[in-house]
Amino acid sequence: MEFTAVKGFKDILPDEIPYWNLLEEEAKKIFKVYGFQEIRTPIVEKTELFKRSIGQETDIVSKEMYTFQDSKGRSLSLRPEATASVVRAYIQNRLYQKGGVQKLYSIGPMFRHERPQKGRFRQFHQINVEEFGDPGPMSDAELIVMITELFKRIGLMEGLSLNLNSLGCPLCRPKFREVLVKYLEEKKQYLCSDCQRRLELNPLRVFDCKVNSCQDVLNDAPSISDYLCDSCKEHFSYVQYTLKEFEINFCVNPKLVRGLDYYTRTTFELHTSELGTQNAVAGGGRYDGLVKLLGGPDQPAIGFAIGMERTVELLKKKKQLQIQGPDLFIAALGEEARKKAFSWMIELRRDGFWVEMEYEDKGLKAQMKRADRLCAKKVLIVGEDELSKKRAALRYMDTGKQVEIELSNITKAIKEVI
Ligand code: HAM
Repeated sequence: MEFTAVKGFKDILPDEIPYWNLLEEEAKKIFKVYGFQEIRTPIVEKTELFKRSIGQETDIVSKEMYTFQDSKGRSLSLRPEATASVVRAYIQNRLYQKGGVQKLYSIGPMFRHERPQKGRFRQFHQINVEEFGDPGPMSDAELIVMITELFKRIGLMEGLSLNLNSLGCPLCRPKFREVLVKYLEEKKQYLCSDCQRRLELNPLRVFDCKVNSCQDVLNDAPSISDYLCDSCKEHFSYVQYTLKEFEINFCVNPKLVRGLDYYTRTTFELHTSELGTQNAVAGGGRYDGLVKLLGGPDQPAIGFAIGMERTVELLKKKKQLQIQGPDLFIAALGEEARKKAFSWMIELRRDGFWVEMEYEDKGLKAQMKRADRLCAKKVLIVGEDELSKKRAALRYMDTGKQVEIELSNITKAIKEVI
């Protein structure tokens, strides 16, 4: 019987790792200068946390969570996203008592039982960013500038479009909800059964529906932009004004409601046209009521998450990244040379050089083949003859050039050339 990975779960193989590393390294560099600190939260949380924060009627909570009971009968879930966990940690560890703004990021796997397809997995990874404590639009602009800077640095921003919306606040959204429900009630017969249910429980979710007849109904639906209160309008205008100042292109998309219930005011997504239907590479927004809703102080917050699989897919289309080979391969011929090579190798590794050799008794041709396969930059060839003459050849694999190296102080000589 051959075991295979569970459907929707996949291995990330060494060839792909340079793309993951590039993304993580560039993200960490940016987060450092924007003042974000790393937080690591557990993968498992109490199910109720996700129900309360993401919302009972969202697809994520109602259909996609990996939920199970532990031996004591408690309902636990694998995290489908990171925001709820970070907010829980922020409250539980009283991070708000540190005063001022708290800026946190985390990187890790999330789990959603969705139908697997291109760009959509059941275990996927996010780079997640949350900023707590500032209610003003400057934080919104800061985060959006930061995410666009990151995508510029990795060479992907040109192919992405930034969609922006404001979902209003508890003052203005109820009015919009009322008008929307009235409109949708009139068109109820054209809505799919899911949306007919959403209409009762959470009408804004109808905007997320992909069914054509629902999309047709939505074409003439009322727009949240027309119902924002003055304060939300001002907030949203400031965000847009700042983005224009930084020459960041965006389009206001009043249908962008996001798939999670906690959002207030600014929401945004970065879309690509290169990955088929799974076109969102990143998404986020403000969620000013969530900390309080989960039992913490009344603290505003905003954040976003980048889908790493989708970003890596785009990176692979754009860039050719290869695993760097060893600095040196020692092709040792004969028992004596192998023993010497082994001690040189350990010494050079101690000094931070990546060195490889063959442990088995193999001929030069086989060893050169292995050096080639490893993409070694240089090969040192040492046999009995070389040991007795105390000189050996060092071959540069890119040019084929060969130089002689003194074996009496081999590690020093090698260090000078690699
Ligand atoms: P989200 O839009 O659900 O937001 O997910 C963010 C990104 O994760 C998506 O844009 C997508 O690139 C990626 N993603 C989501 N589901 C999958 C999947 N099944 N397979 C592959 N990639 C996927 C959130 O999760 C919010 N917590 C973001 C946030 C942080 N809002 C405020 N703070």
